[in-house]
Amino acid sequence: MTMAGMNPQPTILVEKLNVSFGDSHVVKDLSFTVSPGESYGIVGESGSGKSTVLRVLSGLNPDWSGTVAIDRQVQPKRRDKAFYRAVQMVFQDPYGSLHPKKTVDDALAEPLAIHGIGDAEKRIGRAMSEVGLPASFRFRYPHQLSGGQRQRVAIARALVLEPSILLLDEPTSALDVSIQAEVLNLLQALRQERKLTYILVSHDLAVVAHMCQRLLVMQFGRGVEEMTAQTLAARNPQTAYAQQLLTASEGFRRA
Ligand SMILES: Nc1ncnc2c1ncn2[C@@H]1O[C@H](COP(=O)(O)OP(=O)(O)OP(=O)(O)O)[C@@H](O)[C@H]1O
Ligand SMILES: [Mg+2]
Repeated sequence: MTMAGMNPQPTILVEKLNVSFGDSHVVKDLSFTVSPGESYGIVGESGSGKSTVLRVLSGLNPDWSGTVAIDRQVQPKRRDKAFYRAVQMVFQDPYGSLHPKKTVDDALAEPLAIHGIGDAEKRIGRAMSEVGLPASFRFRYPHQLSGGQRQRVAIARALVLEPSILLLDEPTSALDVSIQAEVLNLLQALRQERKLTYILVSHDLAVVAHMCQRLLVMQFGRGVEEMTAQTLAARNPQTAYAQQLLTASEGFRRA
């Protein structure tokens, strides 16, 4: 692949990524780069391979081939500890990702303990305040929180290690529409304040248009079109498939 016209020092580089589960080939020759501080969207129908790409990037899936580089370091299948500090993932379902018998404090203290980072008291307080959770919530359990508050805990847990990259897999789609915007605005503000780099997976093109500078449309495991948010907003994709996805999402919104 020629590097002409591309960011010479991308924060994330994926080149010819292939992923199979048994005999089903679910990610096919996928290549893209994400610039420092960029928010990059991945959209596509259910089953197109979006979460699989994030799982490979985050080190959760060891069965892949191709090249993954983070901050110009080519990544082995087994990542080192520093990687797990720098790259954090936030999942769709905050109920599923938080242990029901662990308090907010436990959830935030655990990654600090795993990485041998001291100063937990201060870091937990700071992370909670950054995501807009009152200090009085510190010893609450997940069932004592709303969906939006639970997702704030999941975001705080990702931030407590002071990562540089967040991989966000449908971070608001399990939330009530009325709180989706709040959480998205929080993520937007955090990216700016902390100079984070994001990959945001969503099936909602409006969310991606709002949150991302560029996006990749996936279909059946392939990248079919990369475009800027402006191209999306101008409803001007080049491929028939991306156009169809856009029309479908607008039809859904109008309904
Ligand atoms: N652990 C696994 N074992 C077998 N097949 C899997 C596994 N994980 C994902 N797949 C398959 O890989 C394909 C891509 O799945 P993936 O979860 O990446 O899709 P997605 O684009 O995130 O979909 P959605 O929008 O529904 O979340 C699907 O066909 C899925 O069934
Ligand atoms: Mg998914």
